[in-house]
Amino acid sequence: MDKFIVMGGNRLNGEITLHAAKNAVLPLLSCCILCDEEIVLQDCQPLSDVKKMAEIIVRMGGKAFFENGDLHVNCSDVKSLAIDAKLTKSIRSSIFMLGSLLGRFGRAEVSYPGGCEIGKRPIDIHIAGLKNLGVDVKETEIYIECNGTNLHNGIVELSMPSVGATENMIMAAVLTRGKTIIKNAAREPEIIDLQNFINAMGGKVEGAGGSIVTVEGVNRLHGCKFRPVSDRIAAGTYLVMCATCGGEIALKNCDTFGLNSVIEVLKSCGCRVKEEKDMVRLTSDGKLKNAALLRTGPFPAFPTDMQPQFCAALATADGVSLIEETMFENRFKYINQLEIMGADIAVDSRRALITGVNELNANIIEAEDLRGGAALITAALKAEGVSTIYGVEHIDRGYYKIEEELTGLGADIVRVSK
Ligand code: UD1
Repeated sequence: MDKFIVMGGNRLNGEITLHAAKNAVLPLLSCCILCDEEIVLQDCQPLSDVKKMAEIIVRMGGKAFFENGDLHVNCSDVKSLAIDAKLTKSIRSSIFMLGSLLGRFGRAEVSYPGGCEIGKRPIDIHIAGLKNLGVDVKETEIYIECNGTNLHNGIVELSMPSVGATENMIMAAVLTRGKTIIKNAAREPEIIDLQNFINAMGGKVEGAGGSIVTVEGVNRLHGCKFRPVSDRIAAGTYLVMCATCGGEIALKNCDTFGLNSVIEVLKSCGCRVKEEKDMVRLTSDGKLKNAALLRTGPFPAFPTDMQPQFCAALATADGVSLIEETMFENRFKYINQLEIMGADIAVDSRRALITGVNELNANIIEAEDLRGGAALITAALKAEGVSTIYGVEHIDRGYYKIEEELTGLGADIVRVSK
């Protein structure tokens, strides 16, 4: 297992080019199952989560490989409708394959993904939605068997705007005759991206980005080349790192639509942020003001996937900040590692009260999940001295060679492989 050695204290200056978003590519990969022609997802990095999802497709009989920065997928020979239990456990997003497998084969089998590092993550909304569309769902303790012989169009109202459930409903409806209406749909930019992708293949989806998404079933989808939306969480992470350490960075290929709530908080903390065409620039003196209340919520509210990085930033801000996590019940686990570094944070269930300290001390710390890991890097970049970060495999799920990106900005961070 790899670890990072970080010598903190450097300012971050320079430019980073963003690539396709992990959370966009994963559902698009699932969606490829609905098509029997070649699809090229452009500018996709081989993130470990994306590689695992591609492996699922390969194990089911399809093709998925990286070439010159693009991900080539061909699902014409996909035969299996069951997803290997071990892979389902290793990547939760395999649950997003229920909709597309049902759309293509009328059947699907997935083992229950179970909880994960950030919370229980139930799938009841996915199941209720599919049942609404006529799918017969049998759940055992470990397996979910879906029979979609009677899959039909209809109106599905989600009890919560779940991103994954919205994506599953859209994919189940794409090749299903007639009009399906999804109410209380998630409004994240990645849902808009899924709509654009399906329409680029000849599908008929509209309304994404709003709360009602309409899918008009088509007979088939054709292959296409598609550049998924840029990674807004990677963008936000680099902005927060620079805000914390001080310096000036420019992010290229950056779509600011998905970043508004993050940019607002950064500005309120004293950073200068300038938005240009496909580019964001941030300047920070490295001494942030507090954030009175940062409450996570479904888009367009503040993203839960940026909560840990901001907590690390606010640990050395001027004054007291409050974070309220409304999305996942177990998303403060990284905080004890920040405390080891000298942060002053009081956690009470879903709230974290952060009293800014003058400095963090370098230490040996361990990441237990992806964004918590990004928070620990943020803290280590700020702390004086040498920190060692274990659990790098979690960070690799969503940031490709992050140490190289940060080195390019002037950070002192190296990966050590055993
Ligand atoms: C997606 C993102 C993840 C992000 C999350 C929230 C991907 C691959 N992952 O995850 O990075 O943190 O959105 O922005 O895109 N819920 C239920 N029952 C369900 C489904 C969800 O109760 O059947 C709850 C969850 O526990 C959570 C909330 O709904 O409290 C939102 O979850 P959801 O939007 O479904 O997240 P994911 O799609 O899993």
